[in-house]
Amino acid sequence: MSDAPTPHSVFRPDFLAGKVALVTGGGTGICRGITEGLMRHGCRAVITSRKADVLAKSAAELEAATGQRCLGIPADVRKPDEVEAAFDRTLAEFGRVDIVINGAAGNFLAPAASLSYNAFRTVMEIDAIGTFNVSKAAFSKYFREHGGNIVNISATLHYRGTPLQTHPGSAKAAVDAMTRHLAVEWGGAGIRVNCIAPGPIDDTEGMKRLAPGDTKRKFEQQIPLGRFGRISEIADATLFLVSDAATYITGTVLVVDGGAWMTMGGFVPWE
Ligand code: HXC
Repeated sequence: MSDAPTPHSVFRPDFLAGKVALVTGGGTGICRGITEGLMRHGCRAVITSRKADVLAKSAAELEAATGQRCLGIPADVRKPDEVEAAFDRTLAEFGRVDIVINGAAGNFLAPAASLSYNAFRTVMEIDAIGTFNVSKAAFSKYFREHGGNIVNISATLHYRGTPLQTHPGSAKAAVDAMTRHLAVEWGGAGIRVNCIAPGPIDDTEGMKRLAPGDTKRKFEQQIPLGRFGRISEIADATLFLVSDAATYITGTVLVVDGGAWMTMGGFVPWE
C-alpha cells in the first residue's frame, strides 16, 4: 500500500465528500498516494495511465483501503482523443469532476549529448504537452461551466540546471509556466491552477531511477531536513491546495522538498 494520509490527517475526514477527482499517473507512486489522500477525505476518483492492468489493481486496492469508488481508465496523456474520452467516461460515470491532478510523467538519467531527439521529445510530450492536453479537456468538458481545481506535479530540477535531467527539467519548467498562464486565463471561471514541486520522495519510480542503492544516503546528508520525503507529504500538500484553506491561492508553485533544491547536488552517479 502507498504511504498516504491515515487517520492522523489534519484534514476533516469528509471535507471532499461528493467531489470527484481525475488523477493522471494515478496508478502508481506519488499520484497513487495523492489519489488515496483524496479518497480518504471523501472524494471519488478516476485514475489514468497507459497500463490497464496496473490501473485495475490499484483502483481495487484504493477502494478497499478507503471505502470510496475508484475507476481506472486507460489513457495516454499524449493523445488528446484518449484524454477527452477519459473525461467523457468520468462524467458519464460520476456526473461531475472537481479536481484534476496532472501527474503523468516520464524520466530517466541521460546526458543531453546522448539524448536522442525522440527521447527529449517523448518526455516533453508526456510531462508538458500531456499537462496541457488534460487541462484543456478538463476546461472544455466541465470546468468552464462549473469551476474546478487543477494541481500540476512539477519538480525542482530546473531551478539549478540538474545534470542528466535536461529533458524533464525543461518539461517541468513548461509546466510551471503553464500553471501561471492558465491560472490567469481561467481564474474568472472559478478555476484555481496550482502546482506542487516534490523533491526526492521515497518509494517512487523516480527515486529508484535517480537515486538507486547507496546514493540515497549520500543525497540525504545534503538535504536540510535530513531525509527523503514521504508520498503522504505530497498528498497532504495537495489536500491543502484543493481545500477551502487555499481559496485565494492560484498560480503558485508549492515546493515540498525538505529544502533539498537549495543544497542537494545533481543526480550525477560519479559526483
Ligand atoms: C536514454 C532513453 C531511455 C534511457 C528511453 N529512452 N529510455 N534514452 N536513456 N534510459 C529513449 C528511447 O530510446 C526512445 O528514443 C525514446 O526515449 C522513447 O522511448 P520509448 O520507450 O519508445 O517511449 P515510451 O514507451 O513512451 O516510454 C516513455 C519513457 C519511459 C519516459 C521513456 O521511461 C516511461 O514510460 N516512463 C514512465 C514512468 C516513469 O518514467 N516514471 C518516473 C517519473 S519520475 P529513440 O530515439 O530510441 O526512439 C519523474 C520525477 C522527476 O518524473 C523529478 C525527480 C526529482
